[in-house]
Amino acid sequence: MAIEFKAVSYEYSPNTPFAYVALKNINLSIQVGKITAIIGATGSGKSTLVQHLNALLIPTQGEVVVLDKTLYAHSKNTQLKALRQKVGLVFQFPEAQLFEETIEKDVGFGPKNFGVPPEEIKQRVIDSLKMVGLDETYLDLSPFELSGGQKRRVAIAGILAINPDVLVLDEPTAGLDPQGAQQMMALFVNLNRTYQKTILIVTHNMEQVLDYADDVVVMEKGEVVSQGKARAFFKDKELLDRLDIVAPPVVTLRDQLMGNGFTLSEDAFDLDTIAREIAREVGHE
Ligand SMILES: Nc1ncnc2c1ncn2[C@@H]1O[C@H](COP(=O)(O)OP(=O)(O)OP(=O)(O)O)[C@@H](O)[C@H]1O
Ligand SMILES: [Mg+2]
Repeated sequence: MAIEFKAVSYEYSPNTPFAYVALKNINLSIQVGKITAIIGATGSGKSTLVQHLNALLIPTQGEVVVLDKTLYAHSKNTQLKALRQKVGLVFQFPEAQLFEETIEKDVGFGPKNFGVPPEEIKQRVIDSLKMVGLDETYLDLSPFELSGGQKRRVAIAGILAINPDVLVLDEPTAGLDPQGAQQMMALFVNLNRTYQKTILIVTHNMEQVLDYADDVVVMEKGEVVSQGKARAFFKDKELLDRLDIVAPPVVTLRDQLMGNGFTLSEDAFDLDTIAREIAREVGHE
């Protein structure tokens, strides 16, 4: 099973004065079972890219392989419902799409739509709410009574309730407080480690990439300019400089310590590990 983009281009509103080529000849391979971060400046094409994964957008050129399904340009792509059940897409600011009168109905909308038996839906709704840190007392509330962060959780629960194999999240922590953002990232890691979900996260937060992602894809002006392991990416100073990406402070600390003669292991990418290794090196352990 694979997720692959093969020579994919995407043009918005072709043959109109608003025509805009947002993806240019994308070749990309995403590891199933991993957490992949997609980064790049605003307008670089991240949201356009991820909307291909559940066929919300179909390539103008090339093809996209998503698990057992291939989406082709210039072809009538059928059986998209099965794909959309396997690939859950959480939009940028998903809370804007809550619409039902209760949270139970909103989170249950996806499973209902995909034909999950009614008696199973409620349990799925409760389980999904629990995963995002909300208990059963929320079931009868209106989504509109919630705070922004809670609405975001409900919207994500609505996708989890479909039980997709691949979860695609477009800036899921944008606008959340630091603690809320960390809880959210911990949820995605748990979904990956415990339930083997493939996770793709669009983010502008380099700490999140370093701390949580296995792989990273960098977009620039509609093109993929780098793809590989997240740790290796942050070790490549030349590449970071060329892409104008500021590494998290812990990477700078690591570089400066090594530049000053300390030896740090390949795994020393967080403060605890760095502190422990330095203590050992200076004979305090
Ligand atoms: N519906 C649309 N019609 C025309 N052009 C669009 C449309 N949606 C996006 N674009 C253009 O395509 C380019 C890529 O947009 P996209 O939303 O994929 O970027 P992004 O990397 O997700 O940016 P951000 O970080 O701001 O969310 C932008 O230049 C944008 O203006
Ligand atoms: Mg976007």
